[in-house]
Amino acid sequence: MINIALPKGRMGDRVYELFASVGYRCDALQNESRKLVFADEANGVRYLLIKPQDVAVYVERGAADIGVVGKDVLLETGPDVYELLDLGLGVCALAVAAPNGYTEDPDRILRVATKYPNVARRYYAHMNRDIDVIKLNGSIELAPLLGLSDVIVDVVETGSTLRENNLSVRQTIAPSSARLIANISSYKFKRGEIDPMLFALSERKG
Ligand code: PRP
Repeated sequence: MINIALPKGRMGDRVYELFASVGYRCDALQNESRKLVFADEANGVRYLLIKPQDVAVYVERGAADIGVVGKDVLLETGPDVYELLDLGLGVCALAVAAPNGYTEDPDRILRVATKYPNVARRYYAHMNRDIDVIKLNGSIELAPLLGLSDVIVDVVETGSTLRENNLSVRQTIAPSSARLIANISSYKFKRGEIDPMLFALSERKG
C-alpha cells in the first residue's frame, strides 16, 4: 500500500482526478463524507485527506509515503522530503502587493502582513531591508487597507482578490504550483511502487 496525502479541498479534487486518470482510482473518495482515510486495495493506494499546510508534515515524518503540496508551502516550511514532480496544477506566484498609489518610505521599517513569515523574512533580508512581520492566517489583503501593514506577501493566482481590494503586485518573489513529494525512506523502500506512479503522472501532465 502507498499512503498518499492529498490536500483537502478544491486542489485535492483536481489532484485526485489526475491520480485516478493514471489508474489509482478510489471510488469511495468521491462520495460526500466526513471520512478522512480511503483505501483501495485493488490499486494498492490509501488516500489521506489532509489540510494543505499539513501535507508535508505527514510526508516528512513518514505517516504518508507521498503527497501533494504547493511550492509556496515548501518554500515557507522547508521540509526534509524529496520533491519528485511539478504537477502543473494550482499555478500561482508568491508576491509583494500594496494598495494602489502606495509609495514606500525607505527610511522606515516596512510592515509586512503575511501567511508566509519565513518567505517574507528571507526575501527582505536578501534586499537588506528591515521589516516588521505581521503573521496572519487569511484575508491578508485586509491588513494594508486597515493600516495594519504597509504591504502584504501572499500568493496571487488570478489576481482578482487584489483587484477587488484596490491592491496590486509590486514584486514577484517566486512561482508556485502543486508538487509531488515523497518521504525519504519511503522513496528508498517503496520505489518499485512509487516510480511507476511518478512516470505515469509525468507523462500525463507533459
Ligand atoms: C488565497 C490568497 C489570496 C487569494 C489569491 O487566499 O491568500 O487571498 O487566494 O487568489 P486570486 O489571485 O485568484 O484572487 P485563500 O483563498 O486561500 O483564502 P484566505 O484568505 O483565507 O487565505
